[in-house]
Amino acid sequence: MAFPATRLRRLRSTPVLRDLVRETRLAATDLVLPLFVHARNGREPIAALPGVDRLSISAAVQEAGEARALGLPAVLLFGIPDAKDAEGSGAYDDEGIVQLATRAIKDAHPELLVVTDVCLCEYTDHGHCGLIDEAGAVDNDSSVELIARTAVSQARAGADVVAPSDMMDGRIGAVRAALDDEGFADVPIVAYSAKFASAFYGPFREAAGSTPAFGDRRAYQLDPANGDEAVREALLDVQEGADVVMVKPALAYLDVIRRIKDATRLPVAAYNVSGEYAMVKAGAAAGALDERAVVLETLTSIRRAGADIVITYHAKDAALWLQT
Ligand code: PBG
Repeated sequence: MAFPATRLRRLRSTPVLRDLVRETRLAATDLVLPLFVHARNGREPIAALPGVDRLSISAAVQEAGEARALGLPAVLLFGIPDAKDAEGSGAYDDEGIVQLATRAIKDAHPELLVVTDVCLCEYTDHGHCGLIDEAGAVDNDSSVELIARTAVSQARAGADVVAPSDMMDGRIGAVRAALDDEGFADVPIVAYSAKFASAFYGPFREAAGSTPAFGDRRAYQLDPANGDEAVREALLDVQEGADVVMVKPALAYLDVIRRIKDATRLPVAAYNVSGEYAMVKAGAAAGALDERAVVLETLTSIRRAGADIVITYHAKDAALWLQT
């Protein structure tokens, strides 16, 4: 039936009707807040990410408590060590910054989930996500061993969930086997399956001091042009034991979120990354955008595309706005 029998505006006429037929819901319980923890005292603002600070362990505990009070289920921890080396040894040190922060947060807020980023790039002096071989390339298989060691060390510190973001081949299987061997069969893996070589990570790299000292990450992260390959990455990670698959960044890859949701039927996470956050902040500061409306619309669109979980620096603001 067509117009005039069909009038789609009928269901848009009042707030209560619109609410009744709304297809996608956004709630604080869908959101994860990333935290940067440094091995120093106090808070340090990050110029490229207004409103986001590098946190000492005690400031991270406080921030985690605020996240919990706002109804957020989880935080995602990134470590910024004081010293970096060629092997990224701070990543798998049982007394490393993420391990210490995990213990402190779990002690203070046991009901909040602590998710840990598993990667070497914040810990290597060259800024790459793995070990460099003689030819100057990132060596896959030796890097995978260190990635698995990092995940086990984080689980031992109390991480509830581990999230490998390095994009080496075979790392999900290696992390699963290592966790199972060490008695962590119940620790889930959120795989950064479709992580694109994106220009939207700029502010994060400033925050973590993880800009590659030479070259770029295109030999291990996905080409932004490739959707089929992203689906293959996700399906391989499922085979290797991923519990949740992730797409990153979110906004320029909404089609990939949908395709991976349809192909895997797993819970899908999407990372609304640093550059996406910085754009909204800059637009709002310039008076061009209504920050609250844009953030809620954006997060809803990521959920509509198929994401069950959204990792976002807007998480605390959004949780607050969703209460009112
Ligand atoms: C590192 C990692 C990156 C991000 C999360 N984990 C950056 C990169 O690949 O350089 C980016 C997150 C963001 O931009 O918010 N493996």
